[in-house]
Amino acid sequence: MTAIVVTGIDELVTCDGTGEDRLGIIRDAAVVVADGHVAWLGPRSAAPPVDGEMPLAGGTVLPGFVDSHSHLVFAGDRAAEFAARMTGQPYDGGGIASTVAATRAASDDELRRRLVYRMAELRTAGTTTVEIKSGYGLTVEDEVRLLRIAAEVTAETTLLGAHVVPPEWQQDRVGYIDLVTGAMLAAAAPYARWIDVFCEPHSAHAFTEDEARAVLEAGRAAGLGLRVHGNQLGPGPGVRLAVELGAASVDHCTHLSDADVDALADAADTTVATLLPGVEFCTRSPYPDAARLRRAGANIALATDCNPGTCYTSSMPFVIALAVRELGLTPAEALYAATVGGARALRRTDIGRIAVGLRADLTWLEAPSHLHLAYRPGMLLTCPLDFPEPFPERGNEWLAEGIEFRRL
Ligand code: NIG
Ligand code: FE
Repeated sequence: MTAIVVTGIDELVTCDGTGEDRLGIIRDAAVVVADGHVAWLGPRSAAPPVDGEMPLAGGTVLPGFVDSHSHLVFAGDRAAEFAARMTGQPYDGGGIASTVAATRAASDDELRRRLVYRMAELRTAGTTTVEIKSGYGLTVEDEVRLLRIAAEVTAETTLLGAHVVPPEWQQDRVGYIDLVTGAMLAAAAPYARWIDVFCEPHSAHAFTEDEARAVLEAGRAAGLGLRVHGNQLGPGPGVRLAVELGAASVDHCTHLSDADVDALADAADTTVATLLPGVEFCTRSPYPDAARLRRAGANIALATDCNPGTCYTSSMPFVIALAVRELGLTPAEALYAATVGGARALRRTDIGRIAVGLRADLTWLEAPSHLHLAYRPGMLLTCPLDFPEPFPERGNEWLAEGIEFRRL
């Protein structure tokens, strides 16, 4: 087995939970990677001798971001809807139907081609794990198709058959819930780890508390983990339901009552509050109050929600910058929520940190410290560190070239 040492790290952010800010920072550090996993980490001066070296030109190394909420498999374009919202038109979920129509009409290959491009975008921005929901098919066949394609790029796939009531079921909501909890769930379960529902009484297109409960209970009975879109457009039952059913995460959490905040704090070991500030940015809506959740003791994750309707960006650095500027998190809290927080929201202990034995999901930040993620919004400072196997077939020279290219 070949081992290489990554050197030239001014600041190694392990996110191991130690230190005042839980970031476990080591300065002038080195990381040894063998077989795609971290074999050693510590101060450069103490690094063991290994087979090769990847010399970085200074900068920061972070755990790859864990984006625990996205809708990346879709076709069609809704830029005009975005433009309308910027002039004051509110979001109500009605535009989802147009993405459903375009997605149903797209071939597998077209969907795959778009997905691969979006995966390259998020990888460049430093994300190494992404959850992907279905939800733009809304027939048994199309939901399975989207999940099959998503499963080609991630293990974190989520059935979102209960995204909205599709046009052909408009007159029969009960019938559509029967389909989602029956034939659709049965066909999709082999391709999904999770089930999700858009529980939102403020949208005529989304689902009520009772409908959402039926979907989640059926998903649980089929062996899927639970996630909820809740409290996005106004106060509502989403958070309460998610906590009651032991969902891994309730996402958006934009409009919370005191009781919701208390419930999330009490359920901190079970249910993560996932905040998606890119949505508020892209829909011109009020931001959630992350500081209030933190004070209460809730567990917080940050994710992009990348989708064509409410937030068409997969940039976790952008989300971190928003969380610091608009949600009341410190840069350290935002980074922790984008790594460890996302991992918790996916109930994973093998990602979100840099530690011996974990996968070497490392992101290089071309900056002297992690503070630059929020300090330099909109700048592409991230560069994924890939460890091709068998290493070093093409040698350190090739790796150094890749890094140097970014520094021009
Ligand atoms: O998480 N709110 C529900 N679903 C997505 C938006 C989907 C769309 O508008 O296409 C969200 O914001
Ligand atoms: Fe979403």
